Amino acid sequence: MTLYGIGLGPGEADLVTVRGKQLLERADIVYSPGRLSRSVALEYVDEDAIGDLDFPMTKDEEKLRRAWKEAAEVVAPKAREGDVAFVTLGDPNVYSTFGHLRRTLEAFHSDVDLEIVPGVSAMTAFATALGVEIEAGAGLSLREAANGASPTGPDRMILFKVTDAPATHEGLIEAGYDVRYGRRLFMEQGETLITDDPTELAERDYYTLAYAERQDLEIESPTAAFQRGGHQ
Ligand SMILES: C[S@@+](CC[C@H](N)C(=O)[O-])C[C@H]1O[C@@H](n2cnc3c(N)ncnc32)[C@H](O)[C@@H]1O
Repeated sequence: MTLYGIGLGPGEADLVTVRGKQLLERADIVYSPGRLSRSVALEYVDEDAIGDLDFPMTKDEEKLRRAWKEAAEVVAPKAREGDVAFVTLGDPNVYSTFGHLRRTLEAFHSDVDLEIVPGVSAMTAFATALGVEIEAGAGLSLREAANGASPTGPDRMILFKVTDAPATHEGLIEAGYDVRYGRRLFMEQGETLITDDPTELAERDYYTLAYAERQDLEIESPTAAFQRGGHQ
């Protein structure tokens, strides 16, 4: 039998994929690493099918390794005898807790069959929410900007974990970027906020991302001239 790593999408239950929904509905047990992913999963799974695991909120590597080893010891026998799921918001392979479980299972329980169901990641959902188009031929880099960090370099960046938007903003503006922010995009839980004013985001909320684009960026698309006022 199989352990399914299922991406739930950004938070709205109807953005779970059809495949993800079908597997959730037939899973014997569904493990969830957090409150938000649990509330999305509960749209498709009975409360008594939700499995209990302790997920550590620590950066201590030793504690993390131990906790994931214990979690894998609970999950592995269940996945040998039935179909179980482990859900994460967004996609299971993008900045996700699922990676800890996958690596631990591969190291200590390599006989467990594992299948991953991709989800709509915030990495792509942001474009629709913020009205951004990444044209064919353009590059887009994913970075982390926790605790006020301002990574720079690429022409266009999507920044996760923007926990101190005012500080991140200052660094990005200084480096010549235009920046827009999205908080709780496509999420049922909490209010969605889209803004280019970092003071509106002074209160810390983990589910905040930013899109930064170089101010002097030339958009090379045959139809871009129309938006710039060209009349060819
Ligand atoms: C640990 S990463 C998980 C990413 C997830 N696996 C995915 O593919 O979207 C968490 C970060 O993703 C971003 N994020 C995830 N979901 C979001 C949402 N619905 N709205 C805004 N940002 C989101 C935030 O920057 C957050 O700090």
